[in-house]
Amino acid sequence: MFEQFEWAPPDAILGLTEAFLRDRNPAKINLSVGVYRDENGVTPILDCVKTAALRVVEQQTTKSYLGMQGSPAYAAAVLDLLFGRAHEVVASGRAVAAQAPGGTGALRVAGDFIKTMFPTAKIWLSDPTWANHRGIFQAAGVPIETYAYFDAKRSALDFASLLQAIEQMPAGDVILLHGCCHNPTGVDPTPEQWEQIAAAVHQRGVLPLLDFAYQGFAEGLEQDAVGLRALAKPGCEMLVCSSFSKNFGLYNERVGALTVVAETKEAAEKAMSHVKLRIRTNYSNPPAHGAAIVTTILEDDALRAQWHQELAAMRSRIGEMRGQFVEALAAAGVARDFSFIVAQRGMFSFSGLTKAQVDALRERDSIYIVGSGRINVAGMTRENMGTLCAAIARVLAD
Ligand code: LMR
Repeated sequence: MFEQFEWAPPDAILGLTEAFLRDRNPAKINLSVGVYRDENGVTPILDCVKTAALRVVEQQTTKSYLGMQGSPAYAAAVLDLLFGRAHEVVASGRAVAAQAPGGTGALRVAGDFIKTMFPTAKIWLSDPTWANHRGIFQAAGVPIETYAYFDAKRSALDFASLLQAIEQMPAGDVILLHGCCHNPTGVDPTPEQWEQIAAAVHQRGVLPLLDFAYQGFAEGLEQDAVGLRALAKPGCEMLVCSSFSKNFGLYNERVGALTVVAETKEAAEKAMSHVKLRIRTNYSNPPAHGAAIVTTILEDDALRAQWHQELAAMRSRIGEMRGQFVEALAAAGVARDFSFIVAQRGMFSFSGLTKAQVDALRERDSIYIVGSGRINVAGMTRENMGTLCAAIARVLAD
């Protein structure tokens, strides 16, 4: 039965990591997958995570299943981080969170929830968006539309077209918005623009689904929640898919959450009863370890303060690399103005390199960049910067 198959296409992002691992060139550079690396090119385990993990292992008494919704203490910690404990949506009980295996797990459960509960709804994705969004919602059977987001000529947000697109979306559809550090462009709305987006979305009767995977990577934990909090207006509904892969460096522990914000506490709990059914048929219940680490850190003042510092250090290293990248490109003789890269936020730089240039960099120099031209700035180091920029200068001159 299997012999009739054609090869499946490689994944747009993780397929590049597979190719990178097969590449024998000792000078190879992986700037594809969104994983933080330190100055030595290593993805570190945060010190607060190490301390908390040891504590979890020492104190745990069972490996029995968690409930379908996961740990209640973890859910409370998630809501606290997203909205702040005193926020009306938390205090009223109209926000409820389910633990999920990473942001991707949360998105897939959200997709299944949308398909089951709103069978005629379409989901609107930004153009461009994270390569896996389309695959996830296609797999869930939710029809996909796109809305204008990025003005490639100005390397900036096309705000007028974005607002115009929202104003034409049918009520009852779902709009996926990136909470911060838009993936792949690194271009986010300003706080004022978020207010306008939130007003337009709610006025239109469109359900916002916020993909929030990079909280703390743009300006700080609170500042980066400005979009989420603009959407969380009295009486308004939303879904949030959040992830702790990046901000806690817990990539392979798969720690995320799906949060439902409804009009009332009862409506939120009713919606969560359906989310739980979708979880049950996906993976039954979530893995415990990573979420226990996050809960331990967020519930302990000293560990939480240490986490804030370690997160700030990651953010600031990425900022430094952005500046050095722009300078090193100029030093390598690149005439094109790349200064917009300094203003982009989060891990990624949307470089404007074409697919052909990206392919040439991979084939000639073993430099791995996503086909859209998205470069993981967090993979740059002082050591690989010269090689990288010289290679980019060569492809731009071709
Ligand atoms: C990325 O965009 O590179 C990350 O979110 C990792 C992934 O799963 O694609």
